[in-house]
Amino acid sequence: MSKPQKKYLVTGGAGYVGSVVAQHLLEAGHAVTVLDDLSTGFREGVPAGAEFIEGRIQDAAKWLDPSYDGVLHFAAYSQVGESVTDPEKYWVNNVGGSVALLAAMRDAGVRTLVFSSTAATYGEPATTPITESDATAPTNPYGATKLAVDHMITGEAAAHGLAAVSLRYFNVAGAYGSCGERHNPESHLIPLVLQVALGRRESISVYGDDYPTPDGTCVRDYIHVADLAEAHLLALDAATAGEHLICNLGNGNGFSVREVIETVREVTGHPVPETAAPRRAGDPAVLVASAATARERLGWSPSRADLTGIVTDAWTFARREEPTAP
Ligand SMILES: NC(=O)c1ccc[n+]([C@@H]2O[C@H](COP(=O)([O-])OP(=O)(O)OC[C@H]3O[C@@H](n4cnc5c(N)ncnc54)[C@H](O)[C@@H]3O)[C@@H](O)[C@H]2O)c1
Repeated sequence: MSKPQKKYLVTGGAGYVGSVVAQHLLEAGHAVTVLDDLSTGFREGVPAGAEFIEGRIQDAAKWLDPSYDGVLHFAAYSQVGESVTDPEKYWVNNVGGSVALLAAMRDAGVRTLVFSSTAATYGEPATTPITESDATAPTNPYGATKLAVDHMITGEAAAHGLAAVSLRYFNVAGAYGSCGERHNPESHLIPLVLQVALGRRESISVYGDDYPTPDGTCVRDYIHVADLAEAHLLALDAATAGEHLICNLGNGNGFSVREVIETVREVTGHPVPETAAPRRAGDPAVLVASAATARERLGWSPSRADLTGIVTDAWTFARREEPTAP
């Protein structure tokens, strides 16, 4: 028997991850409303079949009503470097916006929330892989704002019975159909290396090659955006009134910067020149997730962990985007 259809508000659903999750919700038969101010997202990124509201989460009370079964909250600013130079922009939008959204949910009686948290809440890991009980000590304002929202949600669940799941993504990558990654400016490794392969960038900077890793470059945990999307649907089912569940989402096996560059060369058949650059402050050598909690509590298991597949999907999407200027 098919599950009854539900109705969800997807904040930030014109962005990369939100659009892929919105598409998965629609494919599962749910009704989706995307709320996005298009500050970093794209109108054409909103999947066909979703209702679209161009607006800010700060004004969510205008649109949230008891007909919604839950909210998936992606809307945020997420450029680490910008958060260092303009931290107030991040506190106002990410934290202030989430305060308003939670209040609107409370007032409308919408009591289920899935929130996009991040590996950046942990900062420099003491051990690897990172588990949810590890210390949280963000090294930049972006991570600090996301951690603040996590704390807020914990209080909301305890005080007001919210059913909440925070998903702490590691490095999201790949694409799903017409939904893919196009941040501007781009700061994520795979799309940047693909821009070099496309001839839109001369070379890729490798920030440090003397880390204590097998090839000396930083190791990160890349998770396919479609695997990530599936976790959101499972999180909606697992959310329990009065509980704030926090789950890391990663594959548990990292790939180095060099491995990513090499894989892009293999997948695209293009040369990818590298430029050696000094280490960046606050870049840990290895960031890899333990996703044991997501497996146990959500019943989640990623099925697209292979780097070649992730890069191939991202490459297909990147070429669709040509000749848009970066
Ligand atoms: N992409 C990653 O690797 C990654 C990793 C960890 C966490 N995250 C988190 O996942 C979420 C989605 O990331 P993304 O990569 O899709 O980013 P994105 O920039 O593509 O999407 C964010 C969307 O939110 C919208 N938005 C921002 N502020 C808003 C506001 N006040 N009101 C309404 N809409 C607003 C933007 O227009 C955009 O469409 C973010 O919360 C981010 O912090 C992403």
